[in-house]
Amino acid sequence: MASSPKSSSNVIRVLLEEVSVEFDGVAALGDVTLQIGAGEQLAVIGASGAGKSTLFRTLTRSVTLGSGRVIVGGHDLYALSRRRLNEVRRRIGTIYQAYNLVPQLSAGVNASLGEVGEMGGLGTLRAFFAGPDAGLSERVKAALEEIGLGDKAGVRTADLSGGQQQRVAVARLMVQRPGLILADEPFAAVDPVTTERVLETLLHLSRDGATLLVNLHDVEVARRFPRVVALHEGRVAFDGPPERLTAEELAKIYAEDLHGMENSQNPGLPYARHGTEGSIRVTEGRDGVSAH
Ligand SMILES: Nc1ncnc2c1ncn2[C@@H]1O[C@H](COP(=O)(O)OP(=O)(O)OP(=O)(O)O)[C@@H](O)[C@H]1O
Ligand SMILES: [Mg+2]
Repeated sequence: MASSPKSSSNVIRVLLEEVSVEFDGVAALGDVTLQIGAGEQLAVIGASGAGKSTLFRTLTRSVTLGSGRVIVGGHDLYALSRRRLNEVRRRIGTIYQAYNLVPQLSAGVNASLGEVGEMGGLGTLRAFFAGPDAGLSERVKAALEEIGLGDKAGVRTADLSGGQQQRVAVARLMVQRPGLILADEPFAAVDPVTTERVLETLLHLSRDGATLLVNLHDVEVARRFPRVVALHEGRVAFDGPPERLTAEELAKIYAEDLHGMENSQNPGLPYARHGTEGSIRVTEGRDGVSAH
C-alpha cells in the first residue's frame, strides 16, 4: 500500500442535524439526521435524484443549506470563515462523478495534487511547472502502481479512458491521505475487476485512518460495507447493517423505480431498473449515462 497510516486524530467524524436543502423551491434533502463515527465505512444508496450527491456536497459546503447543521471534524461547517473552511476541506478527499481532475496535466501530476493541496502557493506552482519533488514522485508512482496505472504517470489525463481517470482520482486520494473520503460513484466507469481493486483500495485507505462515504448504485457492492444508508426522495429511508436490507426494504427505497420493472431481466430485484447485460451495467444518472 502506498499510504502509511496517519495518526487517528486525523480521522473525521461527521454529524448532520435535520439538514434540508432546496433547489428552486424543490426539496433535494429533507430533515436528514446522520451520525457517522470516526473511521466508519458507509455506503449511500438510493434512486437517481434521491439526493445522494447533494448529501455529499453538504459535507464540503458546496450547496446552500435550507436548515439544519453540518458538523465535520468538530466544526460547524456552515458557520466557518472561508479560511477555516478551506483548512477543513483540505482534510477531505473527494471523488466526484466527474472526477475533478485537470485534463491537460499528466496522470502523475494530477495524483500529486493530493499533496499539493496542502502546500502553499509556491509549492503548488512548482509542482505544476517543474513536476513533483523526488519524495512526492515516489509516493505518486507507488500509488499509480497500486491502482494498476504504473505505466501511465506521464500520460495526459485527457488521453486516459474514463475508468483510468477514475483510478487517477483514487491515486490522488492515496497521496492526500485525507481524514474523510467522499466517493461519489467511484465505480461508475470501471469494469468488475477494477471495481474490486478500487473498492479494496478505498476500504484500505479508510482502515489506515479515514471515515469513508461511498455513494453507489450497485446494492451488492453496498452490502460489502458495514453500514448502509438509503435515501428516498431526499429522506433517510434506511440506516443499518446490510443484513437488514431485505427485499422489502429495497422495494421501499426504490419504490418509484418499480414502474420500469416489466422490462427488467431481474424482476425480483427492486434495483434492476438499470439495464443489466452480462457484467456491463448501464446506469442513467443526473450527471450523465455511464456504462460499467
Ligand atoms: N445544482 C442544482 N440545481 C438544481 N437542482 C439540483 C441541483 N443539484 C441537484 N439538484 C436536484 O436535486 C435532486 C437530488 O439530486 P442529486 O444529484 O443529489 O441526486 P443523486 O441521488 O445523486 O442522483 P444520481 O444517482 O442520478 O447521481 C434532483 O432532483 C436534482 O435534479
Ligand atoms: Mg449523484
